[in-house]
Amino acid sequence: MSSSARQAPLPRHIAIIMDGNGRWAQQRGELRHAGHKAGVRPVRMCIKECARRGIDHLTLFAFSSENWGRPDEEVSSLMSLFVEALDSELDELHANGVRLRFIGNRNAFPVRLQARLAAAEARTADNTGLGLHVAVSYGGRWDLTEAARQLAARCVSGGLRPADITEADLAAQLQLAGAPDPDLFIRTGGERRISNFLLWNLAYTELHFCDTLWPDFDVEDFEVALAYFAGRERRFGLTAARPPSGA
Ligand code: FPP
Repeated sequence: MSSSARQAPLPRHIAIIMDGNGRWAQQRGELRHAGHKAGVRPVRMCIKECARRGIDHLTLFAFSSENWGRPDEEVSSLMSLFVEALDSELDELHANGVRLRFIGNRNAFPVRLQARLAAAEARTADNTGLGLHVAVSYGGRWDLTEAARQLAARCVSGGLRPADITEADLAAQLQLAGAPDPDLFIRTGGERRISNFLLWNLAYTELHFCDTLWPDFDVEDFEVALAYFAGRERRFGLTAARPPSGA
């Protein structure tokens, strides 16, 4: 087979920081909420493209631990948008075999919203298609702190010795336990940082930053990110493009 006919390597797991909604709205003289609302379209596009291409997992940063500090009006409009999106999209996600999971500190949400998130997860739990992880009230430091608490509790109860704790033990307590680490990270909106997202899981992830504001992120931008990934030589700290076993 010629090299051009060979398929470009695809990420198994893509993680995205969807940034730029507020600026997109401001540029149009609209309220920030208009930007968040317009941000639902590229969410749909990414889910569709990942499912179509056989990418196993997609993780979206929808609301960070720090976002609670935004004006009350913006926080509550975002909550309403999540509920609306759940209502309007869940049937289709389910019909397309998507397994929906929410990662983050859900205890921070109103009880009724927590129940809706749990019901959506339960409904799609047996699906075998794309694993869609939506990070809500999520922070990488919170995730690691929670994992440390779980391990400490096992040590106190006598089930685990501190000296025996392995990286795998810690990884198994994290919110994305069971999913492979993201291969490709995308951040839209021009900033070049990871902003407390998946601090552990992004250790060897290829990082792609693009200037497009999230509501404008389209299939072409998505393909540019995939092409960037395909062109990377992944060494995982080794000297050749040979991942350690299990990666
Ligand atoms: C960051 O842009 C975006 C958010 C905090 C919210 C993301 C939410 C959506 C895209 C809505 C749809 C999501 C789902 C899962 C249905 P920003 O407000 O920080 O933008 P700025 O940097 O321009 O101010």
